[in-house]
Amino acid sequence: MLIRDSFAPVSVRKAKRAPKKAPVQDGSSLSATAQLSQCPVGPQLSTTTRCLSRQNRALGEGAAATVTGGPAQVATAQIQAQMRQGLCPYLSQATQNNPSQDWSALNLLREGLEQGQTDPVDFLHGVHQNYGASVKVGDVLFESRPDVVSQILVATEHPSKAQFTKSTLQKESLGQVYGDHNIFLEDGAAWKAQRKSLQPHFVGRSVLSEENHQHLQDLTDKHLNALPVGTPFDLNLKLRSLSLDVAISHMFGLNLERNDLENLAGLFERGGKLAQNKLFGIEHQDPELQSQLHQVADRLIASPTPAPTLQTLLADPQASDKKWLRDQVLMLTMLGHETTANLLTYSAAELANNPQELAALRTEYRDKIGTARPTVEQTTDLKVTRNYIKDTTREHAPNYLVSREALEDVNLDGMLISAGTQVLMSLHDTNEQANGKIFSFGGGNRVCMGQVLARLEAAVVLSQLMTRFDLESTPQTSLAPKSDFSSRPADAHFTLHRTDIAQ
Ligand code: HEM
Repeated sequence: MLIRDSFAPVSVRKAKRAPKKAPVQDGSSLSATAQLSQCPVGPQLSTTTRCLSRQNRALGEGAAATVTGGPAQVATAQIQAQMRQGLCPYLSQATQNNPSQDWSALNLLREGLEQGQTDPVDFLHGVHQNYGASVKVGDVLFESRPDVVSQILVATEHPSKAQFTKSTLQKESLGQVYGDHNIFLEDGAAWKAQRKSLQPHFVGRSVLSEENHQHLQDLTDKHLNALPVGTPFDLNLKLRSLSLDVAISHMFGLNLERNDLENLAGLFERGGKLAQNKLFGIEHQDPELQSQLHQVADRLIASPTPAPTLQTLLADPQASDKKWLRDQVLMLTMLGHETTANLLTYSAAELANNPQELAALRTEYRDKIGTARPTVEQTTDLKVTRNYIKDTTREHAPNYLVSREALEDVNLDGMLISAGTQVLMSLHDTNEQANGKIFSFGGGNRVCMGQVLARLEAAVVLSQLMTRFDLESTPQTSLAPKSDFSSRPADAHFTLHRTDIAQ
């Protein structure tokens, strides 16, 4: 039986923190979050009828009664019209009652984050659970209908119908921290040229060669052999260091010491936090960060043995512009490590709580590889490990939020959005409705460029970690999401014990 069939969602789902509901109160002093949590419309509609196209149909079929529990003063026809536009009628009512308050959707999230009430992943989940798969508030659209998410991703940088671009919100937040001259944030011709020149270093034999696989095994040994045994430690930090080592080595040809890598992982964590706080409008200063990141970029650029990715960047005519080069290097380093490490942390933590799946993984490893050093064919043939990683990628999309901006007025399966609308797509919620299709690496022309490397690395590291060690949770271990640029377990402290799967 495929692990997917028997995948026990228990540990995954139970570990997810339910979105905290704001206390129900009366009156105009309610916080934005609390006002929304009182919406009488959302809870009455099933998840499927909340999907706008179905919602339109339901309303057309005289289901108006379903929404008469909405704001009393708003006429039913108006409620219907608002719902067709994806607007929450309760929110619009609350807006009228309290015009001085900032009712933008991001303000709701900022409020929740500032009060320590919610994590972005939980917030987005709560929005979709309570108000539908597609929710428009002001000029922000929260979207999680798989067909619509596909439509948007495909229409980004599409040669003939480029209706979407990367969002201004993201450019202004992430770009301010890591710079905006890079493959992740640029659009149009600049993006296309970078993608074309860099992509070859992330596909086929550039990643899946035996040489690269053996190098990955070496780096994995270097880090796993140094893990503390018998005392609790932060597994996520160690895995971020390992992933940084892989990314820096693959892209820049540089191998750094473990302590150095841990410091860098901490620096990128600060960068992710600062960027996400900027995105959500939360006041946050980290004045030292910029110059520290520049120093890191300069070290990577000065690699004495530049790997093909760095060679390509250095050969670009724009490389004489120091800012351009730093922006490229910093963004690639950030993209190349955190998401993979967080995926690995979730996978290991889930397996530690799932003895049946762990036994299946170990049995397959023992039968197919035993105590010998695996070849790349053997690693890619570890179906149980790879399926487990795939399921975790779906359940805990590490890059949980993909955002776009509409370049023109667009019809999204019945909902008209105007040019300039910011679209926030929660990949976790999209995956949940996608009947097995996984959106965690994005899609369309801007699909993740590093996914082959990420998958191979995840298979090597997870199979080695889980066949050499038993992981014991600590009292504070928590798989609830803690998200900034990417999403990781809130607390990944574990105690390791050596194990021998050959016995
Ligand atoms: C589990 C690990 C990973 C996940 C879940 C992940 C996820 C994603 C997602 C969702 C996107 C699309 C963002 C968007 O459409 O706005 C993306 C883009 C990207 N990823 Fe990854 N990623 C992972 C690992 C990596 C690695 C190892 C690299 C290596 C450098 C990488 C490099 C990139 C790049 C360069 C882009 C931008 C592509 C473009 O805009 O053309 N990713 N990734």
